[in-house]
Amino acid sequence: MREESPTSARAFYDALAPWYHLVYEDWDASLARQGAALASLIREHWGASASRVLDAAVGIGTQALGLAAQGFRVLGSDVSPAAVHRARSEARRRGLALPCHVADFRALAVRSASVDVALVADNSLPHLQNEHDVGNALAEWHRCARPGGGCLISMRDYGAPPAAGTVEIHPYGERVWQGRRYRLRQMWTWQGQRYELALEITDADDAAEPFTVLKTSYLSITPARVAELMRAVGFANVQRVDGRFFQPVLVGTRTAENSVIT
Ligand SMILES: C[S@@+](CC[C@H](N)C(=O)[O-])C[C@H]1O[C@@H](n2cnc3c(N)ncnc32)[C@H](O)[C@@H]1O
Repeated sequence: MREESPTSARAFYDALAPWYHLVYEDWDASLARQGAALASLIREHWGASASRVLDAAVGIGTQALGLAAQGFRVLGSDVSPAAVHRARSEARRRGLALPCHVADFRALAVRSASVDVALVADNSLPHLQNEHDVGNALAEWHRCARPGGGCLISMRDYGAPPAAGTVEIHPYGERVWQGRRYRLRQMWTWQGQRYELALEITDADDAAEPFTVLKTSYLSITPARVAELMRAVGFANVQRVDGRFFQPVLVGTRTAENSVIT
């Protein structure tokens, strides 16, 4: 068994990239479902002409590929080179255009006001260490969005953190891939507002113990606090949208008044 010491998001997602689709029972069905849900949210909030999307935590492309299949012009970036590499090859395999590069979403290699929507989906933002970093990331996404465009974030809704030392197990269940059965589960160990996450992958046809344990950490920041920070960096009409995506969604718009190019 390979056990890694607590790692950065980059190392965690580099190691997870070949396995990431197993997080979903049927990754291809999830691409289609998430793409359709996000397309309708984008059109509803920023109009039918909103078509340029920057997915700043593209990962292996769960949302970006779904949106590209819906006709959006998607640019992907992510801090994990292995995830970016896989997103590119998944796009090629499907005949979709998905230019991607490696970047931290607090410092994006994207021109100011050049995209209709900056997208950061599936709880990627809480990988940051503290609220100061979250504010810096939100300000960067505000910079990238054109006036009248905006930002769309999906994230978990954490309640109050449990007592330090509390351990929670979150199993994904069994997955079948290339004729083998795998079991995946997350183990969360709470330490105040942060928790350490260990993702265990077990080959159910081979052994009872995981063959890999990948570790990372999260900040259990709430959607309400992220919405406050979005307003603080200049987003207007900040709203939480429930029931349209598999996680709560936050949207905010860059207005003409707060569109000073920095
Ligand atoms: C849960 S995954 C979601 C990936 C993708 N949105 C999806 O659903 O397939 C979180 C992603 O956030 C990325 N990430 C975490 N911190 C980042 C940062 N500071 N800058 C850019 N990407 C980051 C990770 O590399 C990872 O790909």
